[in-house]
Amino acid sequence: MAFPVTRLRRLRRSEQFRSMVRETRLTPESFVYPLFVCPGEGVRKEVRSMPGVFNLSVDEAAKEARQTYSLGVPSIILFGLPEKKDEVATGAWADDGIVQQAARAIKREVPNLIIMGDVCLCEYMSHGHCGIVRATGGPQSLGAAVAAPPAAGTDYEIVNDATLELLARTSVSLARAGVDIIAPSDMMDGRVGAIRKALDQAGLVNTPILSYAAKFASGFYGPFREAADSAPQFGDRRSYQMDPANVREAMREIELDIEEGADMIMVKPAMPYLDVIAAARERFDLPLAAYQVSGEYAMIEAAARNNWIDRERVMMESLVCIRRAGASIILTYFAKDAAKLLA
Ligand code: PBG
Repeated sequence: MAFPVTRLRRLRRSEQFRSMVRETRLTPESFVYPLFVCPGEGVRKEVRSMPGVFNLSVDEAAKEARQTYSLGVPSIILFGLPEKKDEVATGAWADDGIVQQAARAIKREVPNLIIMGDVCLCEYMSHGHCGIVRATGGPQSLGAAVAAPPAAGTDYEIVNDATLELLARTSVSLARAGVDIIAPSDMMDGRVGAIRKALDQAGLVNTPILSYAAKFASGFYGPFREAADSAPQFGDRRSYQMDPANVREAMREIELDIEEGADMIMVKPAMPYLDVIAAARERFDLPLAAYQVSGEYAMIEAAARNNWIDRERVMMESLVCIRRAGASIILTYFAKDAAKLLA
């Protein structure tokens, strides 16, 4: 050999060496485990497209929360499947709503677990959209928009500002029920500011907001919509969630949410958007979360079930790569299983 070979392999020789020079480490402290709460008692219903993930009644959710905490995972995020859906998402902001009930029960059971509340209306709306639907050009106000729903087959739009009132109401109700962190995922403009103002007015000045700041209109949410029964009954979410092609716009979304008072920011989905995570890390100093969404989980589970990939290996690789890209907090359906492997 005429030239000296640069021997990077020297430090890869053994697990001891590899561990010494490892740049990124996973710890269960960075995980947030999503829970889907449904009506009833003793209910544990597996989600068809998400093996290992369940719809849980409040009592079962409290047990699951305790187990999650005992594995070293410090936080959960709650989603609700209400008894009834309507045109104003009553189930989202009612003080006896399903997530409010779950938050109270979980706080009693595991006081130190950090409870995040996903703030969105799609699970609670009869039409499955994240905001109020009205006929295109129809009335703007909340009451009038609800009173004038679009007739079947006519043009409709998702009204922005009237929706903010319901998101703010939901946030205050969740915080009062014991939710520690408010996490708006609806992608209406101005929602972080509206929620911050409502929380402050209610005296909830210490409740932080984790904004789903750069949330893309993604096909990877498919299994979630089965888990949360939240698929839009018509149309899609492209008029409020972001175009997957845009990273500069994602920076603008994040910047605005920070200006409006976000305490933490999120990029979602995670794996196909690692460049967005890296760009956000580079540019902003707030704690940065990434959501490894239902479709990412389902793909890995499905391939593993076929013995096409090694489940544990791919699970841990996917998580360490999300962290390497720059996320310090990871919302993932693998939280419990990954925590077990890290113990
Ligand atoms: C509510 C919401 C969704 C997810 C989190 N909050 C669904 C959506 O926007 O359609 C997706 C989470 C996942 O896929 O795991 N809007």
